[in-house]
Amino acid sequence: MKNNMPELERPAFSEQEAVLLLEENYGLCCTLEELPGERDRNYLAKEHNGESYVLKISNSCETLEFLQVQNDALDRSAKLLEQGRIPKVFPAKNGEPLSSIMSKDGSHHWMRLVYYVDGMPMAEYRPHTGEFLRELGRMCGTVTKALHEIPAPPPSHTLLWEMHNVQKTLHEYMPWIKDEKLLGWVKKSLDLYSRTIEPLESKLRRGWIHNDFNDYNVLAVPKISGNPDLGLIDFGDMTHSYLAAEPAVACAYAMLDKPDPLEAAALLIRGFHQHFPLEEKELEILFPMIMMRLCLSLTLGAFQQQNDPENEYLGISQKPARELLEQLQEVNPRYAHYLFRDACNLEACPASFEFRNWYQNAEGSFHGLLGEALNSENTAVLDLSVGSFLSAKTEGVSLEKQQNILDEYLLEKNAEFGVGKYTEARSFYASKEFLNNSIDGEEKRTIHLGIDVFAPSGTSIHAPIDGVVHQLQDNHNELDYGPTVILRHKFTDGPEFYTLYGHLDGECLKQLQIGQVIKGGMPLAKIGNSSENGGWLPHVHFQIILDLFDYDGNYPGVALPSRKKVWCSICPDPGMMLGLGSESTAEEIDYGQLLNSRRNVFGPSLSLTYQDPLIIVRGQAQSLIDFKGQFYLDCVNNVAHVGHSHPDIAKAQSNQAYVLNTNTRYLNPVNIEYAERLCALFPESLDTCFLVCSGSEANELAMRIAGTVSGQKDMIVLEEAYHGNTKANIDISPYKHDGPGGKGAPEWVHEIPMPYLYRGLYRDPETAGKLYADKVEKICEKLFGQGKKPAAFICESMLGCGGHVPLPDGFLKQSYQHVRQHGGLCIADEVQVGFGRAGKHFWSFELQDVVPDIVTLGKPIGNGHPLGAVITTRKIANAFANGMEYFNTFGGNHVSCTVGMAVLDIMENEGLRQNALETGNWLKEKLEALKESFPLIGDVRGEGFFLGVELVLDPETREPAPLQADYVVERMKSRKILLSTEGPGHNVLKFKPPMVFNQRDAQHLLAELEQVLVESPLLQKR
Ligand SMILES: Cc1ncc(COP(=O)(O)O)c(C=O)c1O
Repeated sequence: MKNNMPELERPAFSEQEAVLLLEENYGLCCTLEELPGERDRNYLAKEHNGESYVLKISNSCETLEFLQVQNDALDRSAKLLEQGRIPKVFPAKNGEPLSSIMSKDGSHHWMRLVYYVDGMPMAEYRPHTGEFLRELGRMCGTVTKALHEIPAPPPSHTLLWEMHNVQKTLHEYMPWIKDEKLLGWVKKSLDLYSRTIEPLESKLRRGWIHNDFNDYNVLAVPKISGNPDLGLIDFGDMTHSYLAAEPAVACAYAMLDKPDPLEAAALLIRGFHQHFPLEEKELEILFPMIMMRLCLSLTLGAFQQQNDPENEYLGISQKPARELLEQLQEVNPRYAHYLFRDACNLEACPASFEFRNWYQNAEGSFHGLLGEALNSENTAVLDLSVGSFLSAKTEGVSLEKQQNILDEYLLEKNAEFGVGKYTEARSFYASKEFLNNSIDGEEKRTIHLGIDVFAPSGTSIHAPIDGVVHQLQDNHNELDYGPTVILRHKFTDGPEFYTLYGHLDGECLKQLQIGQVIKGGMPLAKIGNSSENGGWLPHVHFQIILDLFDYDGNYPGVALPSRKKVWCSICPDPGMMLGLGSESTAEEIDYGQLLNSRRNVFGPSLSLTYQDPLIIVRGQAQSLIDFKGQFYLDCVNNVAHVGHSHPDIAKAQSNQAYVLNTNTRYLNPVNIEYAERLCALFPESLDTCFLVCSGSEANELAMRIAGTVSGQKDMIVLEEAYHGNTKANIDISPYKHDGPGGKGAPEWVHEIPMPYLYRGLYRDPETAGKLYADKVEKICEKLFGQGKKPAAFICESMLGCGGHVPLPDGFLKQSYQHVRQHGGLCIADEVQVGFGRAGKHFWSFELQDVVPDIVTLGKPIGNGHPLGAVITTRKIANAFANGMEYFNTFGGNHVSCTVGMAVLDIMENEGLRQNALETGNWLKEKLEALKESFPLIGDVRGEGFFLGVELVLDPETREPAPLQADYVVERMKSRKILLSTEGPGHNVLKFKPPMVFNQRDAQHLLAELEQVLVESPLLQKR
């Protein structure tokens, strides 16, 4: 975006001459590579020992004084910034930082050598996360702190890019702009700047600044964990100007190509302010200054284009700046100002001070919104927050049902009216108008800025205070306000402000007139019905507004959680005006406090996912929803098999809980029917069922059965296997007993290598199944040699903790043969991979064409409800019945069995196995295609909705890339997609979503993954 103005002759030195100069003046022997330079001659100089420098031969017009200011700036910045982030001066042999040299043509130049600053231009670095932008701001603030007090007089001549001359410069070059639209924007921006700067000009702080924090002067060293290291180069445009111009210039570049440029600027300013506090008047001019820098760049660009019409690149390089300037035309400068104030921890809307004073004094003087007072006698405050039962129950059902639920609730509370809270985070703003493409991923507007009063349609609405009708509009879109009235208020002892009344009866739009005076207490309108109010239950949305900006008849009633503070400053709490107490204001969960409470009450061995754990308060189908109403696409929770919080399951569970929930000691059709339905899903011989409460219990029982039936104890297991959390399960789980804190396998547990085609001992798919099964045989023979037999061989039918590994062909068949020949039983652990997840079959052991002796079930079969099962043959069950009773207090209880049946019904009714097959296959194919473009992806494997993507540092060596896998997981989380890692190398992205994950979700996942895979930390050389 930056332009070179005007053209200057660059110093006449050849590469050979520069080599000699380096040797003579610095005693360095280097190879040189010329770097671009606008008016100077620059070389990258590399010493044989790896050290790199930049040799700068300045243009003959540069004065010693100015170069000394630059050196001073480099020294001062280097002291405040981390080493290597600024080009530090390397003095000549004579100790001088600047050396005087002469070119062949006799002109005199100053020469300087600086250490090379590592990194790629910020313009090419991705991603520019919120933390990246704050860090950029912090660096910019630090540099401003270092430079501004340099005790040198301002330059004696005017420089082209100086903010204090911007009006003059623009007027001079504007005639070159041929693009009428652009010219219009520049004029409008100039006008804004002139109006804002006029009262401030003499009060703004001035000093030395870098003045060119552009996206090619900021360098970033990508890092796989943590923020990149940022550096800054090119102090050649330093000048003495407004200090606020420094962050303004940095913002203008940081805002380019951003989904939400204002947010980018606010993040930068937040960081800047931490290191160099901005004054209130500087914040006022910041947005107009950003506009000025963009205009300057585009105007000078237009000038250059006229002088170099053939140069197509000029136009291309200006495109992002032009797009940004166009985008910013839509921004109300006051809104930007408030945002920037908030970024500096100031009250966002300055008018709120005056309003608060007036409001407090006016307490008790307001008329009732419904003509009568809202009080604890007639009003119930509703919890409509994301995690509330009322929201969960009313979302996705008809308005009639919603009304019934609300009426029932109000009846229970003996209340006439319901009140929806101010600043409540809600999940039901479902249309795309509520979505914002924010810097750290998509963000949904969820924070309610008004108060809702639920009352029957036709209820009269009265003005709480005197006012004038200011705007009237029918906002008829779905989920909008419907008929809306905005009143303007102005009292002698307070500021001007507005009140908004939404979801009204359309009549008021005909009866009221703009400018009409409304007395406090006067009827204004009536509550509208659902057919005209945007499709909501009848209620009025009431909101106070201190700044209407440019909105006309419509106004945001819901804010982004990240902008809650700003919007609460602009739209204060209307509770008092409605006569309500603090209970009508929502309380937000305190993240830090919750984290501490958890740490205090739970043991530390219970871990949380993600660097910044999520507060999840609700589940819905394939989504988990956080406390701010943000939806996360869940790609890992296979427990919520038919989808989170499925209403049919909630209903079945609740209904049965009303009736009976007891143990299996009584005859009752519920648990018998469930057991029969489960058994019917298996091959014929597996016809007997034990109901338990978890996968761990299922495996415990399976071990007990095997031990009783075989009279043996020894177990054969797979490396990296996990079978549960109890003591015996840890004993048979190498993933645990060979992992951190583990004490290895007990002597009765025998482990074979993981049958892992991609990185295991045997990798040839033709022979691997047999070779791994031979390992099972070897253990059987060893036991035989010791006079023992295996009690059982336990194996997942696809390996979960091993890294989502499908078994090689023939492995189970041959292993089962060996085990059975030696008298042992074969247990298939289908806790993770059963129940249709594999798509092709209902059970994953079917992929291997075997029939186990015992199958253990858990996780998905209760869809989150604690339910598990052991399925075996009648013969084995009979042999297990040796007199010792098997009793399980909760296993087979009626509520759990009812839930289990509801899961089976949903599986069938919604065709979920077929979905796993079709969507899973499609996704696997696409992921495999990605492998071609990204060598980081070493292997894509699995079946249906049980897939693994193994990341490797090098496709040849297949060395695991765990840091890269963690990076992907964290970045996908910020894009609101939940994934996690698995496998011995912690490098496999695991995918096992609820079975309702659909084609659109798969496309979304892929698109987001592709975006992350091209980010700089993943593309850097490994
Ligand atoms: C394969 C396998 N078996 C058994 C279990 C134990 O199940 P639960 O946690 O329900 O006790 C797990 C749990 O992750 C598992 O992955």
